[in-house]
Amino acid sequence: METAHAAVTTTRLKDYLPPAYLVDSVTLDVDIHDGVTTVTSELALRRNPAAAVSDAMMFNGEGLTLRSLALDGKVLDENSYRYEDGELVLSGLPEKATLVSVVDIDPENNTALEGLYVSNGMYCTQCEAQGFRHITFFPDRPDVMSSFRTTVRADKKRYPLLLSNGNPVAQGEEGERHWVTWEDPFPKPCYLFALVAGDLACLEDVFVTCSGREVALRLYAEHRDLDKLDHAMASLKNAMRWDEHTYGCEYDLDIYMIVAVSHFNMGAMENKGLNIFNTACVLAHPATTTDAGFQRVESVVAHEYFHNWSGNRVTCRDWFQLSLKEGFTVFRDQMFSADMNSAAVKRVEDVDFLVNHQFPEDQGPMAHAVRPEEFEKIDNFYTLTIYEKGAEIVRMQYHLLGAEQFRKATDLYFARFDGQAVTCDDFVDCMQEVSGTDMGQFRRWYSQAGTPVLSVVDQVAPEGYRLTFRQHTPPTPGQAEKLPLVIPVRMALLDAQGEPVPLDEEGRREQVLIIDQQEQTFHFPVSESVTPSLLRGFSAPVVLEFDYRKDQLAALLSHDSDGYCRWSAAQRLYFAAMDRLVKGQSSPDLEAAALQPALEQVIDRAGEDFAQAALLLMLPSEVALGDRHSPLDPAAVHEAHQQLKQAIGRALQAHWLSLSENLLATELQMDGVAMGRRQLRNLALDYLAAGGHPEAARIAVELFELPLCMSEELGALRTLVHHGLSGAEQALAQFAQRWKDEALVMDQWFSVQASAPGESTIDVVAELLEHPAFDWKVPNRVRSVLGALAGSNPSAFNTPKGYQLFAQALGRVDALNPQIAARIANAAARLHRLEPGRQQLLRQQLQAVLETASANLREVLTRILS
Ligand code: PHE
Ligand code: ZN
Repeated sequence: METAHAAVTTTRLKDYLPPAYLVDSVTLDVDIHDGVTTVTSELALRRNPAAAVSDAMMFNGEGLTLRSLALDGKVLDENSYRYEDGELVLSGLPEKATLVSVVDIDPENNTALEGLYVSNGMYCTQCEAQGFRHITFFPDRPDVMSSFRTTVRADKKRYPLLLSNGNPVAQGEEGERHWVTWEDPFPKPCYLFALVAGDLACLEDVFVTCSGREVALRLYAEHRDLDKLDHAMASLKNAMRWDEHTYGCEYDLDIYMIVAVSHFNMGAMENKGLNIFNTACVLAHPATTTDAGFQRVESVVAHEYFHNWSGNRVTCRDWFQLSLKEGFTVFRDQMFSADMNSAAVKRVEDVDFLVNHQFPEDQGPMAHAVRPEEFEKIDNFYTLTIYEKGAEIVRMQYHLLGAEQFRKATDLYFARFDGQAVTCDDFVDCMQEVSGTDMGQFRRWYSQAGTPVLSVVDQVAPEGYRLTFRQHTPPTPGQAEKLPLVIPVRMALLDAQGEPVPLDEEGRREQVLIIDQQEQTFHFPVSESVTPSLLRGFSAPVVLEFDYRKDQLAALLSHDSDGYCRWSAAQRLYFAAMDRLVKGQSSPDLEAAALQPALEQVIDRAGEDFAQAALLLMLPSEVALGDRHSPLDPAAVHEAHQQLKQAIGRALQAHWLSLSENLLATELQMDGVAMGRRQLRNLALDYLAAGGHPEAARIAVELFELPLCMSEELGALRTLVHHGLSGAEQALAQFAQRWKDEALVMDQWFSVQASAPGESTIDVVAELLEHPAFDWKVPNRVRSVLGALAGSNPSAFNTPKGYQLFAQALGRVDALNPQIAARIANAAARLHRLEPGRQQLLRQQLQAVLETASANLREVLTRILS
């Protein structure tokens, strides 16, 4: 675990040097006993021909109690090596050598959850990015790829299951104890190593690959959760088939395993052949999991599976290239989910997430390029920029090349770099080679931080219609100067009926404009009055500025065939209305009345796609609204947001009432249509309550009493609690009673309360932190309260009490788990936008935490406070 004032070291991309030695093979012996685990490792070292001649070799090791070290059979005494600050340096090594080390580690007290640790009595590992160095001495960097042979030993009764990567090749018993040896034939970096020892239930199935090989699929969870693995299994099989079909990627080992663990810092981990998952991303059952939860399981299972090729077979040279595997794999999982469900809805959900979470990251102190130039703790760079913006950059390449050429390029990428650790440039090189287009300027997307702003103006002239584009990227920390990017803009021009008009002589009605200069103008032979439908499908991750008239937005919302443009038009209408309310320029009822016809159109067409209707009818979040106002007064923003929601609730109350009643299902279905219905129904009920309708409480209580599934039950509970309806307290008590033994459901119980809008929630949060079921050591639980408060409840968070509670809690989490503390601290990144009073208060509180902060937390806080 990090201790206070650990040395701060900055790692820079420009300093990259290949390792002096390679490790061809690793033989590990992990001997698990109560209180101490002994790890013996044997490394076959070979001088790296690609490295400059140097005989000193560095091995990382953190928190290891060194028992012995031997080189080629000779025990090394303390004068023959140097071990300081987590680095073991050996000099004078021959061309080839064998290094054997024996160390003791202490998994029982590992609350940071990196390396080997214990979760609910089960031993498991997390090695990405730099966890392996907490297990044994090793060059802990992704460009060292080795084949692993691992023996796990433990008590037979308590740990009947002993797993590692690859295939089991031997096993045996010794009295009360037993052991299993696993062999992974595919060379991999140590961050993909995994091990599990526990007593788990297994759901088993078989997948026959496209070449006819049988793969055993085994999903493991605690015995009580065995009934929650079916959805993950179905998703896994779909993902395996999809990847064969879409990318020609076939699974390579004989076994594919997933293990669910309750204590996990992230969503899931793609360890070769042995994925380890946060229970929240693999367990699913209609009674305990919301529809959103089901969709998350499907996409995370697929994501980790897809890493087998994009990440494991072809991996990253160094951690600056993290987006090489993450951006590409997110793009792959997005396309998979689009194929499994409604593609239009999926695209809007992904864009919504990007613009409301990654764009703000770009505007704050943590802004960084998709391929960053430097970092202190790599753990802090598992960001939305690396993942989501990285995916958008791959998506642009997909569209620039077209599906067929893109597939040729990925075929080339996988064939050329199989078994290697490579760079983002290597990936783009494949795109460039296959398509024959110069991608030089496009590569700036990887190196330039910040969200480009694309301002567009139109002009109607006698000779036709003109669009002029100007691009500009605001400065980000450490990067003041910005260069023009390649911005593909898919567009159409809609006539008065919402039909796209011909854009050229050939009669094309949609076109992709490539903006690659600071300013460019395009002409269209169009004389009638048109509404530009721009950035269709969100063809580039930019902020598009165009001064739309209200009637144009209403037309886009009701007629555009592009799902993104419809959603974006709705967002513009909502934001404009709320902006006026924040500035006191208008009244809520006037704004709601102005929105009403457009919203009624959406409701009339809701039957076409319930989920899409729900997305169009949902107001942007309070946080998103706040991000448009500077200096930020969160109380005024909260007020405006509430007012518009209430006014829409009143203006359309007959609709909300009938949607609440008529969309009710009589039997449980888990298909996309049924999920969409529930989503729209929950939203309608929420508006009904916001408008103060007397029936809202009754409908919510009835639904809460007899729900068909967790989406209904939780939707009802949220409406009751967030609107303080009568019956809320009783429902909370009942819910806790019903679900006290289901950790993931109780996470929802905590987060529903912590996210209830309004200042007084901060007292509720203080109580929740004292609740017997609150556990500072479980990241999911910590996130369900502190993440919900700081990330989605600005009116409670941005108060003197809120800041104080947040800062104290941050310090407490940090002492146990620095990665989680640093992640949660990011919620304070809006500090510099706050009005002076609050800014001062928050600054003081964060400053106080800084004094004892871990290196992880310190990096984040220092950036925020600078
Ligand atoms: N590599 C994992 C993924 O995205 C995320 C992860 C990173 C998990 C670091 C744990 C630790 O699939
Ligand atoms: Zn990933």
